[in-house]
Amino acid sequence: MKNYNNKIELATQISTLKEKGYTIGFVPTMGALHNGHLSLVNKGLSENDFVVVSIFVNPTQFDNKEDLVKYPRTLEADMALLKQVSDDKIIIYAPSEDDIYGDQIQSQSFTFDGLEHEMEGAFRSGHFDGVGTIVKRLFEIVTPDSAYFGEKDFQQLQIIRKLVELHQLPVNIVGCPIHRAEDGLAMSSRNARLTEAHRDIAPFIYKTLNVAKVKFGTKSAKYVTDWVTEQFKKQPLLELEYFIIADITTLKEVKRKSTKKSYRAFIATYAGDIRLIDNIALN
Ligand code: PAJ
Repeated sequence: MKNYNNKIELATQISTLKEKGYTIGFVPTMGALHNGHLSLVNKGLSENDFVVVSIFVNPTQFDNKEDLVKYPRTLEADMALLKQVSDDKIIIYAPSEDDIYGDQIQSQSFTFDGLEHEMEGAFRSGHFDGVGTIVKRLFEIVTPDSAYFGEKDFQQLQIIRKLVELHQLPVNIVGCPIHRAEDGLAMSSRNARLTEAHRDIAPFIYKTLNVAKVKFGTKSAKYVTDWVTEQFKKQPLLELEYFIIADITTLKEVKRKSTKKSYRAFIATYAGDIRLIDNIALN
């Protein structure tokens, strides 16, 4: 399996492959890979000749310094996992901060038609500037035909689509379904840091989302939001940061339901000091 940490060497390899007519899929990650990431890689492999997987814990998207320091870094294990998926079709790019940012570790400032102010944007200051900066830079280095993003981070997926539209980037964005543990907890690199008690209670998040979905069939968004808030108040191990039912295009909280629009419910909660997010399609 080819493994690069230098962007020039990677770009040279990719242009050689493209000259031969091969297509390139791209899965950007921050590592600590799990089956959710691998589902994106497999989707990429099914649609392209080669898949580039980047592994880079991007400092500019962390609003919380401690979260950045504690973010799991497991490069050897990640490479072993990817090797099992495919030894000859996957190309790893695991750069240093210097290879990506040089001596200026800072974000560019972006607007994404207001998507950046909702939910994660409201609670994690500067987060989407960091995501926009790294993803745009990685697209320029990798020049993929298609790039794969999980609906786990649905707002991120919509923001990347907007980035591509506004900056006219020549890449096809593919959204992929949320991969879950058997008990329903959305897979996340941060799950490994949960205490046993928090891990046991964490499936409550997806269970509540499912009940919210049923209730949204007959009740208003406000009713469902109040109901979810009440459920979390009864759950001392989980601290709800937000529960929002939003239009999937604008990501704005729904006030009055329309049968012509599509909605999703979004949730962010703390389990101890670990922040977990999840979401579900409602209609
Ligand atoms: P990371 O959290 O490592 O996620 C990498 C990709 O895997 C994202 O597109 C994310 O939505 C997807 N993913 C994570 N868990 C998933 C799950 N349970 N099911 C399906 N997809 C899942 O998202 C990032 O990294 C970063 O912000 C990045 C885009 C790499 C920029 O730094």
